[in-house]
Amino acid sequence: MTKTTLNRLEKLARSAAKASYSPYSQFAVGAAVLTSSGKTYIGTNVENSSFGLCNCAERTAIFTSIAAGEKKIKCVVVYTPTPTATPPCGACRQVINEFGPSARVISICDSKDRLDLSLETLLPGAFGPGNLG
Ligand code: THU
Repeated sequence: MTKTTLNRLEKLARSAAKASYSPYSQFAVGAAVLTSSGKTYIGTNVENSSFGLCNCAERTAIFTSIAAGEKKIKCVVVYTPTPTATPPCGACRQVINEFGPSARVISICDSKDRLDLSLETLLPGAFGPGNLG
């Protein structure tokens, strides 16, 4: 991935957080994904008064890409409104694994701190499509 593409993904993730529906946590998260076709998709977290139904920004972005006909995810960038970078939750790691078992996962925040990890590192020994027999 080029530096230009990475910069674009980071800008998209930061800006996607502005649409966050997070009245319960006040934690506005944004995400951007790069697919194998080279297209980008954004997502934000969408909460619900039935708290268990909250959807993370990463999954919103991934599901949007799937709805657009994409099948493979190369990179996920997630922005959290924090002083240090935070990695995706377990549910999002599992969903990333479905469409991008070798994806690069980058976390950015309100400082220069960042995480840049592979999905294999974030979810070693993942259960995936190949385990269904
Ligand atoms: N959240 C995300 O959207 N992505 C993450 O990586 C961590 C958590 C959301 C879920 C919930 O709406 C809020 O942040 C607080 O957990």
